[in-house]
Amino acid sequence: MTEQMTTVSGIRATGRLHLGNLLGAVETWVEMQKRGPSFFFIADLHSITTGFPGREVLHGNRRDIILDLLAVGVDPDVSNVYVQSAVPETVQLAWALGCATPVARLMGMHHFAEKKDRLSQLGEDANAGLLTYPVLMTADILGPKGTHVPVGADQRQHVELARDIARAVNARAGRDLFPVPEPVFARVDRVPGLGASGKMSKSEEDTIVYLADGPDVVRRKFLRAPTDPARARRTDPGDPGRCPVYRFHELLCDGEDLRRAADGCRTARIGCVECKAMPVGRINALLAPIQERRRDLEAKGPGYVDEILEAGSRRARAQITKTLAELSDLIGLHVPSVPDSWRMS
Ligand code: TRP
Ligand code: SF4
Repeated sequence: MTEQMTTVSGIRATGRLHLGNLLGAVETWVEMQKRGPSFFFIADLHSITTGFPGREVLHGNRRDIILDLLAVGVDPDVSNVYVQSAVPETVQLAWALGCATPVARLMGMHHFAEKKDRLSQLGEDANAGLLTYPVLMTADILGPKGTHVPVGADQRQHVELARDIARAVNARAGRDLFPVPEPVFARVDRVPGLGASGKMSKSEEDTIVYLADGPDVVRRKFLRAPTDPARARRTDPGDPGRCPVYRFHELLCDGEDLRRAADGCRTARIGCVECKAMPVGRINALLAPIQERRRDLEAKGPGYVDEILEAGSRRARAQITKTLAELSDLIGLHVPSVPDSWRMS
């Protein structure tokens, strides 16, 4: 097996990127692309497991997400940036991998169990795509022979399964066809939401900071965010441990600000408005250069993103088809060839 490090990661096309995407995964993408070949894609096949949002939505999200990724520093000249559905060979690979995956294993995945429960409360059935979601994700990773997979902590079980499937197929094949991929977790495990629940889910718009949010929007979202209910009046002391906003202090502020916020809260020396200004300042400083780069990229016109995706998809497709060909040959399926035109960069 080669020593080479190949990074693979995908992001579901469910909307604009937010702070959780940035700190939980994409910052790591930018780091990893410096160390070896990388494959970064929009997981649109995974997005349709929760319904068909429609062409307009998927296309719009795709463009927005790519622009955000590039603005953050994903370099399309270094990394292969593509759309999952532009590489149909991944799905064929997933079929073969699925035939080496116990169904009980899929039914036991906590993501599936949770989605299934939520759907059954609505009187709906889980679709087959939800069940086989992790097999497709495994194909995403093994297609480019990924060795490293930057993901959020919620994807740990999925990567674990990918490792097991890689081992199982290697054992059946009698050789190390696939590297066993390593998950790479970001410095930040989970970015909380600004709501009381502390969860960052994409449907609760006002509790999420998007990369596109300007300084006033970020300030407004924080000002509206709930704090420790004990601080009903300015003179009431509070407990930072009970304040959803304080988790942003912990994530983004340095020691001195942290102490000023925590001590000030406990002694009522600081008000929530002043206290919230600390993480707001940090976030705005982080986002300003990203937003500036995004404006420059948007100015290049609509064709720019299309060209990047065209080239990225072609290169990714060449690589993934090569892998599919190797596996197909071993198993005895039709061996696809890679057209020369896909290889050009
Ligand atoms: N399931 C991942 C998520 O929800 C997205 C994803 C799809 C992915 N395929 C992948 C991540 C392959 C890493 C590698 O975040
Ligand atoms: Fe939260 Fe700060 Fe208000 Fe305390 S002072 S409740 S930590 S915002």
